[in-house]
Amino acid sequence: MNYVFRPATEDALSYCLYRSIARPGTTSEDVEAIVSHSRRRNAERGLTGCLHYENGVFFQWLEGPWREIFRLLDLLREDTRHFEVTVLDQGMLERRLFEGWQMRQSDPEAASLFAWLADWANRPEAGDDAYVERVNAFLKAIADQE
Ligand SMILES: Cc1cc2nc3c(=O)[nH]c(=O)nc-3n(C[C@H](O)[C@H](O)[C@H](O)COP(=O)(O)O)c2cc1C
Repeated sequence: MNYVFRPATEDALSYCLYRSIARPGTTSEDVEAIVSHSRRRNAERGLTGCLHYENGVFFQWLEGPWREIFRLLDLLREDTRHFEVTVLDQGMLERRLFEGWQMRQSDPEAASLFAWLADWANRPEAGDDAYVERVNAFLKAIADQE
């Protein structure tokens, strides 16, 4: 049989979803500063995505060239504005969810991820994989909004 082995290339379109805990005392101005810096830098790095900040917890969806995502993750882990950076999911993408968004900021007042999770957390099937699926579904719903 003839088959071609295709390793993931450094510019393969990838995504990473992580969660982190904000430094205590984080203000909305701090979050604004992160978003505006991210927008500028992500444009240069070919990254797009979405940041959700609620109850002192960050959830960030990053998408773009594989190498740029993993470079940024190294920087994020060193950043003292948050800690416990936990990668929930990562993989390859066919197309971007947040095309045109250097960093979309999702508004917890308009859509609460905590309420979305609480709504489901008591169900018997709730488990780690289901948790990640649920966070992914939340962010995909945000991506589908104008
Ligand atoms: C929650 C959070 C999200 C961040 N998101 C991004 C991002 O999407 N892009 C980015 O370049 N930096 C982001 N940063 C900042 C990086 O950790 C790091 O400070 C920055 O990339 C360094 O940029 P510089 O190379 O311009 O100094 C984020 C920081 C935090 C705390």
